Amino acid sequence: MRLSVIGCGYLGAVHAAVMASLGHEVIGVDIDSSQIESLAGGRAPFYEPGLKVLLEEGHASGLLSFTTDIAAVEGARIHFVCVGTPQQDGTNAADLRYLHRAIDDLIPHVNPGDVVVGRSTVPVGTASSLAERLSVLGVSLLWNPEFLREGHAVDDTLAPDRIVIGAPATTAGQAGIRTLREAYERLLAADVPLVLTGLETAELAKVAANAFLATKISFANAMAEIADATGADVVTLADAMGHDIRIGRKNLNAGIGFGGGCLPKDLRALAARASELKATVVERFLLNVDEINLRARTRLVDIVVDELGGSVQGRRICILGAAFKPQSDDVRDSPALEVAHHLRRRGAVVVVTDPAAVENARRHHPELRIVEEVDDALDDAEVILVLTDWPQFSQELSPKSVMERTPARTIIDGRNCLTAHEWIDAGWRYAAVGR
Ligand code: UGA
Repeated sequence: MRLSVIGCGYLGAVHAAVMASLGHEVIGVDIDSSQIESLAGGRAPFYEPGLKVLLEEGHASGLLSFTTDIAAVEGARIHFVCVGTPQQDGTNAADLRYLHRAIDDLIPHVNPGDVVVGRSTVPVGTASSLAERLSVLGVSLLWNPEFLREGHAVDDTLAPDRIVIGAPATTAGQAGIRTLREAYERLLAADVPLVLTGLETAELAKVAANAFLATKISFANAMAEIADATGADVVTLADAMGHDIRIGRKNLNAGIGFGGGCLPKDLRALAARASELKATVVERFLLNVDEINLRARTRLVDIVVDELGGSVQGRRICILGAAFKPQSDDVRDSPALEVAHHLRRRGAVVVVTDPAAVENARRHHPELRIVEEVDDALDDAEVILVLTDWPQFSQELSPKSVMERTPARTIIDGRNCLTAHEWIDAGWRYAAVGR
């Protein structure tokens, strides 16, 4: 099937590459010419395991192409809209300007019978007005949210936990579902659960899932505060809670909390939408989840200050991790870099390293000293902070050899990802959140 993908950022680039790998002819469109240049040359513009190979294969088979010219979408039966919906400057609400622009740009090039499929994350209630604009052109609009995680984007797209398709209860809406099912035939044949619903439920399915995941993490961080005040251990607590299958162990890891381009902004956008809908108690609840999350970062800074005897002024701190999570070079709203920034503002001499995010971290935080090699970061350090749970730090650092390389004797585990007793047994002072 000939398909178009409008918006080739994180979501769109992966979606385009995966759809081509399923045998479709895909044209990806974006207004960012440097992004398109890189994708058109078969190169991934960001770090994502598996993407490079799919881009190369798509390039070689001729099924995958990229352009900045929106007219190239003509002839596609489905147009996937994958543009970003970041947080608006100065408010909690989502910024829908790229979405509206994409629809405006697309409209002159659609034909009756085409299907437009929204994949972007939007406030509930957004799709129905777009559906009206398109239906007068004989084009139906469906909403099909994505649930992919950065670092696992290709696998999550090829083998999703579920596919949610929202459509209006009209003949055109039902025909749209049939077309989209045809495009996803190979995924559906692998027994991926399919949830068919209306536009509003589909829009909400995405933000509700992200807000719930965020809530679990903030719940764990709230318990970490209680654990710190009482001598309980939040990691064992999460194990104990996680055995209850109704709760589950995933997303119960306390530490410096969640960041990235999705959970924080989606949680806030849902709070903003709740406020618009006059659901003020719901808004407060969601903003509390956000507040606990942001507090987790400042609590870590407090731990560092305590460990260094009350002030970090002039003290040399090595930070392992810059990405918002492992297997990603994304530093948007990265808890690790925010902690680094705070410590520097308080006068510490901070050096940061990361296996994949050095370049992005330098671009966004030119004020920080960011080095490629762990050895260079460890040089002269008085204290070491692990702030992103990369396996290179959690599994591959040897307490004994790190001790030989640096004068530091204190390690602070901002992700509860190290095996604490190994460090303590090797003579380290080990500190963490909620333990
Ligand atoms: C998130 C969702 O998990 C995806 O399902 C969703 O599709 C995506 O947002 C999106 O909206 O596009 P992602 O932002 O890639 O995916 O990252 P997660 O793996 O969910 O991690 C988010 C943050 O939570 C990271 O900073 C991570 O370190 C932190 N985290 C995660 C914790 O602090 N504790 C945990 O137990 C789990």
